[in-house]
Amino acid sequence: MEEKEKQKQRAAEAAARHLQDDMTIGLGTGSTAYYLILEAGRMAKAGMRLKAVTTSKATEELARSHHISVILPEETDCVDLAIDGVDEIDREFRAVKGGGGALLREKIVASKAKEVIWIMDESKLVERLGAFPLAVELLPFGYAWTANAILDLGCAAKIRSQEGQQFHTDNGNQILDVTIPKELDYGRVAETIKGIPGVLETGYFDRACSRIIIGTSQGTEERVNPARKGSLLRIGGIINEE
Ligand code: A5P
Repeated sequence: MEEKEKQKQRAAEAAARHLQDDMTIGLGTGSTAYYLILEAGRMAKAGMRLKAVTTSKATEELARSHHISVILPEETDCVDLAIDGVDEIDREFRAVKGGGGALLREKIVASKAKEVIWIMDESKLVERLGAFPLAVELLPFGYAWTANAILDLGCAAKIRSQEGQQFHTDNGNQILDVTIPKELDYGRVAETIKGIPGVLETGYFDRACSRIIIGTSQGTEERVNPARKGSLLRIGGIINEE
């Protein structure tokens, strides 16, 4: 296994240690979340009772095939812990997600979860956001107008395609991959984009996680988001940092 994959796996396995019996969890999407689902599946097979809200069809299928009970959002009013991957994150816990196109469901689940852990290999930590495009989910109706409004902000943008076809999310929408020029304020532009009619969601997550777990060549490194530390400490005794 190549080093990056090992780092993803280490981060995922460390995150799985935060799972507890009887939890309702949010399961993220992507190649790092994949390792988490395998580990959670092993724990479920060994008897841990887990119920999962999933953030994509791919994650739902994988979870089901690994003994994890999948529920709809409508079946619960509580997500104890969401664990997901990330595309880029800076020191202030501002992040970009959506490389897999699951950003809208990921944001809904993260916003509902009491705790949110993002897992990653060390390449995801960046000094500033912007190298990875910002995924923006667009309603198909009028999508060219919506895209033009985003170009008018001074951004570059491209409708996502896959194998020569327009990419569609699990929600049936398009993704516009947006590059925000360095000279613009990233967070402000992302918020402006979010307000354009036809934009359903962006992959910009402003300090939305409680903790990140980074897989490194030596093991793992965990960082707690101070803005959400209080709620983390409420999880039954598993968090030790002060
Ligand atoms: C899915 O839409 C994304 O938000 C993923 O969580 C993100 O792209 C990280 O994916 P990897 O773990 O595959 O890098």
